[in-house]
Amino acid sequence: MSLTTQTFVTLPFILEEQASAFVDADDKYPESLVRYFLKEYTEKGQRVFDPFAGLGTTLFVCEEMGRIPYGIEKDRKRYEWVAGQLENWQNLVWGDAATLQDQGFPKMDFVITSPPYMPKHHKWNPLYGGDPAKAGYDKYLKRMQHIFQNLSQLMKRNALVVVQLDNLPGRRFTPLVWDVGNAIAKTMRLESEIIVKWDPAKKDYPHTHCLLFKNTQQ
Ligand SMILES: C[S@@+](CC[C@H](N)C(=O)[O-])C[C@H]1O[C@@H](n2cnc3c(N)ncnc32)[C@H](O)[C@@H]1O
Repeated sequence: MSLTTQTFVTLPFILEEQASAFVDADDKYPESLVRYFLKEYTEKGQRVFDPFAGLGTTLFVCEEMGRIPYGIEKDRKRYEWVAGQLENWQNLVWGDAATLQDQGFPKMDFVITSPPYMPKHHKWNPLYGGDPAKAGYDKYLKRMQHIFQNLSQLMKRNALVVVQLDNLPGRRFTPLVWDVGNAIAKTMRLESEIIVKWDPAKKDYPHTHCLLFKNTQQ
């Protein structure tokens, strides 16, 4: 399989699977994004993992496209809602992505995910549910690096990882794509960046970034 040289892609911004209990959630990615990458980089029957499963978009699209979904989600309500809709519900674990190596998962062919975001000037670290002992952006980036280091052990050699991220604008800009990208690149090889332009164009959210890594570790 060859890596794309295409760096700009246009995809529809439609959130298809919106549970009524989570209508206010603004962290779900459109199904079109997962469909695009699964079609481009995976085959039917392959195992696909999402360490931040959220509202289950990766897992639902996997089932729709004949891939086998696996994932972890820390939020109990989200976990229960997603597991309740899945055929492969036993492949979704309620827990911390930092423990993914202890969950008995098989080796994965592909990963696609979007981690929780953190503005640089915030103290509240979403990867630890706001634990004051783990406050701050530096600890967030270190934990992200740790999670992706563990993730590399779960993946087949040369398997690909797509990480969807956004920079966070505002009075104090956070270059989240670069910072998280650099943290992950300490353990996986950064291959390319694909900018996904949304159609219809959204005024406050015209595009997103997808970083593509290769797991070169065994
Ligand atoms: C950006 S959302 C993912 C949304 C998902 N891509 C979707 O389309 O529904 C990030 C998710 O990571 C979860 N999360 C935060 N910290 C976590 C951790 N340490 N381990 C596992 N999941 C975590 C959050 O509860 C949230 O659901």
